[in-house]
Formats: sequence, C-alpha cells, structure tokens
Amino acid sequence: MRLSVAILCALVAVQAAALLLAGTAAAASELKVGYYHKKCKGVENVIKWHVIKALKQNRRTGAALVRLLFHDCFVRGCDGSVLLDKSYENPHPEKEAPVNIGLAAFDLLEEIKAAVEKRCPGVVSCSDILIYAARDAGSILSNGHVHFDVPAGRLDGVVSRADEAQAELPDSTMTVQQLKDNFAAKGFDTEQLVILSGAHSIGQGHCSSFTGRLSEPPQQITPAYRDLLNYKCSQAANPDVVNNVRDEDASVVARFMPGFVSRVRKISDFLDNTYYHNNLAKIVTFHSDWQLLTDATSLSKVHEYADNATLWDSDFSDSLLKLSQLPMPEGSKGEIRKKCSAINHLY
Ligand code: HEM
Ligand SMILES: *[C@@H]1O[C@H](CO)[C@@H](O)[C@H](O)[C@H]1NC(C)=O
Repeated sequence: MRLSVAILCALVAVQAAALLLAGTAAAASELKVGYYHKKCKGVENVIKWHVIKALKQNRRTGAALVRLLFHDCFVRGCDGSVLLDKSYENPHPEKEAPVNIGLAAFDLLEEIKAAVEKRCPGVVSCSDILIYAARDAGSILSNGHVHFDVPAGRLDGVVSRADEAQAELPDSTMTVQQLKDNFAAKGFDTEQLVILSGAHSIGQGHCSSFTGRLSEPPQQITPAYRDLLNYKCSQAANPDVVNNVRDEDASVVARFMPGFVSRVRKISDFLDNTYYHNNLAKIVTFHSDWQLLTDATSLSKVHEYADNATLWDSDFSDSLLKLSQLPMPEGSKGEIRKKCSAINHLY
C-alpha cells in the first residue's frame, strides 16, 4: 500500500514535469545551433533568401531587423513578444509603447513565417525566425564582417505589455549612468553597452527622438550638424532622419557640412564602426549616444572601437549573440505561433 502510493506520487510528479516541459520556455543553455536541422531542413536558407531579397529592395529593413532583435530580447527575453498586434484581450502590447516608435520589418517577418509554415507547419517559432533574420541582416549590412551561429529552439511568448517595454528599454534622453544601469539589469556591462550602441551606424530615427539635441550646446553636438538636423526636422511633421551622416543626402551635407561630403556613401546602412568616429566628432543623433563620451570607461571604449574596426565587428557579433540568448522569465508559457502577430488561440 505504502509502496503503491509512493509510485503513484512519483508518476504524478513525472507527468507534471512533462507537462511543464511542453509548455514552458527553454533556458538559454538548451538552445542549440542547428536546432532545426532535422525538424525543418533548410529553414535557415529559406529565411536568408527572404532577407537578401528584402534588403536588395531596401537596406534599411536590415536596420529594422537588428533593432527588433534588441527590442524583443530586452523585454521578456527573445520570445517574439514585440511582434504581437493589439487585440481585444490585449489592447496595449509592446508595439504601443512610445519607446518602440519606428519599429518596422513586421511584414517581412510575417512573410517569412508564412513561407516557413508551408514547408514545416507548426515547427519553427517566430522568435527564432526573428533572430535568424536579424543575424542575416547584420551579416549582409556588414559585408559578412558581423556573423555568428544562432542557437535556436526558442518558444513564442503569449504576454506582451506596453508598460513593460516602456520600463525596460532604454530611452534616448537617458544619462550614461541610466544607460549603464539599464544594461546592467539585463546582464550587460559598460563595454557591451558601448559595443551594442554601435548599431546606430545604420538606420534612422524620428526627430521626436532627438528633440533636445536640436538646441544642445557645441560641447555636446557639432553646431553644423545641429543645423543640419534642424533643417531636416523642419521639412515635414516629425520626419525620419538617418542615424549616420554618411547616409545623408549629399546636397544637404554639402550645404551644412561641406567638409563631410567625401564621407557620403552611395550604399547606405553599412554596419561598421563609423558610429564611434561620428560620436567622437559629436555628430550622432541621440543624446544617449553623446552621453557615452561623458564617462571614463565608456569613453575609452568609444576610442578603442573607433581605432579598431575588426575588433568591433567581432565584439559586436559576440554581444548580439549574447542579446539573442536572453531567456523568457522563469515559468513563462510558450508556443509555436501560427502567425507572428497573434497568439494561437486568437488566430
Ligand atoms: C543604448 C541605448 C539605446 C537607445 C537609447 C536607443 C535609441 C534609439 C532610438 C530613439 C532610435 C530611433 C527610433 C525612432 O525614432 O524611430 C533607435 C534606432 C535604432 N536603434 Fe537604438 N537605441 C539603443 C541601443 C540600441 C541597440 C543595443 C541596438 C541593436 C543592437 C540598436 C539598434 C538600433 C537601430 C538599428 C536603429 C535604426 C532602426 C531603423 O532604422 O529602423 N539600438 N535607437
Ligand atoms: C584589432 O583587434 C584585433 C582583434 O580583433 C587584434 O587582433 C588587432 O591586433 C587589433 N589591432 C590593433 C591595431 O590594435
């Protein structure tokens, strides 16, 4: 009798553990490179093909993917929670947070997901697709200098809250201390903060994200660049402006910063260490970027990465890989979504 009770208890415990395993997210250590090799052969190539095609059309989509990786992984881990649309049940998902202004590439990810579902229904998570696509974008935009293998096997989360995104993502008006604290809360040190900020060599931002910069003093922003930004921001209602002056219209650069015309490039959104050169020259868009010059540790790292492009390529790859492994909160429910913009029971 006592024995059978013990066996029963053991069975219940095993069953409960099995149930828990099926429905909860894998820890970072359980992610595996080549996770889909047998489950969905060729999926990494399918994703890459779509990313190459999209970036041929518009390289900025690659910048959007790299930023999406950051904004997904910093909030509830890399669980695709940033991809969820608002619904009757959840009227304020992460997408609605002011700090998530300008996020893009959602359509591309949905297109990739549809192609992958056709090939292997119900197998590949949106959170993994996002990481693969952002990795491919980083590689394409850097001509292959930024690269890493993606450990996969993530599940898609079912929770997405604007207030959480707003509380946990850094804001462009932050001081260097606030930035350091914000990154430390996710396990990233000052060096990694500086390394990852180098992603601002690509993409764009809204004028509302650097309003304060438009009237900052010359110690904080080169006046000619400040004039350029003021001009760009006066051309429409809260327009987008490129993050890297290298990608700016040649005629606008010629007018405001003639000395920089030679730096303007035909191919935009090249992911490299130019962010550090721009930062030292005080020609970066965000106050938070400039703030990295005001702390001895971060300033020395800005110098280091300005001086060594290959060092940045490899350290950025490592930090992006680390970012891509942030886990969901312990005990979170997970699933393989059918569509990236909705949790399954709503779809
Ligand atoms: C250090 C704290 C950071 C702050 C305060 C910050 C802030 C911002 C802001 C305000 C924008 C423009 C949004 C808009 O107005 O539309 C932006 C764009 C961008 N950020 Fe960050 N960011 C930070 C770190 C990062 C990191 C760690 C990454 C990736 C590794 C990243 C990648 C990007 C990219 C690629 C864009 C351009 C996106 C596009 O063109 O679609 N940022 N960031
Ligand atoms: C730049 O960094 C690389 C490591 O990625 C190192 O091998 C090289 O010596 C460094 N170059 C200089 C000039 O410090």
